[in-house]
Amino acid sequence: MAKISWKPGNMLYPLPAVMVSCMREGERPNIITLAWAGTICSDPVMLSVSIRKERYSHAIIKETGEFVVNLTTRDLVFATDYCGVRSGKDVDKFREMNLTCAPSSKIMAPGIAESPVNLECVVEEIKELGTHDMFIAKVVAVNVDDKYMNESGRFDLNSSDLITYSHGSYFTLGEKLGTFGYSVKKQGTKQGTKQGTKQGTKQGKKPRRSTEMKTSKKQEKAQGIK
Ligand SMILES: Cc1cc2nc3c(=O)[nH]c(=O)nc-3n(C[C@H](O)[C@H](O)[C@H](O)COP(=O)(O)O)c2cc1C
Repeated sequence: MAKISWKPGNMLYPLPAVMVSCMREGERPNIITLAWAGTICSDPVMLSVSIRKERYSHAIIKETGEFVVNLTTRDLVFATDYCGVRSGKDVDKFREMNLTCAPSSKIMAPGIAESPVNLECVVEEIKELGTHDMFIAKVVAVNVDDKYMNESGRFDLNSSDLITYSHGSYFTLGEKLGTFGYSVKKQGTKQGTKQGTKQGTKQGKKPRRSTEMKTSKKQEKAQGIK
């Protein structure tokens, strides 16, 4: 097995391809597609998006200090690509893509109604990195489509046909391979595996709750965290 060594390049894949909506007072709302986006803190809940200075949305988000991250699905893949190759300077992306503005609860910028999850964000810090500025933001509200709530009150996000972006192409998520912590679950339990116990978990010992999971019980249930 041989590796080919390249000079540094962005090769961290797969990534989310999110549609970020933003709006400046007196102007129509805009959408920018972003793949350079990530979760960065659980308490306070924070995320980051990296945007090139020359993007039309960069100025809007810098000025207003807010934006909405909208998760994308198979049904939204065409619009996701379109909002990533056309500028709001020239076109009304909501209108062109037949998307609906969903009023936000805590900020002015609207979300996208057709997206299963809208994360309302307030910018805390802008870090100039080089080609991109990183907007570090606090998530101030999370709006989820109630059509994905199942009978037991759990939010079944994975049934919304989310998409991902990898090395120039869009994909759906594909086959489910395991659930959080399944590798250390006891053998004989529904999700336990032989490999998991072999790798050093004491039989019978519960997997430790990570800090990422320290949310309220009610929210955990709705989010499907066990
Ligand atoms: C899949 C995909 C991912 C993208 N990710 C980013 C990104 O992370 N940061 C960025 O500045 N531009 C990114 N772009 C490019 C912008 O979305 C694109 O330049 C867009 O037209 C800017 O819109 P605006 O001029 O209305 O702000 C991406 C485009 C696509 C198609």
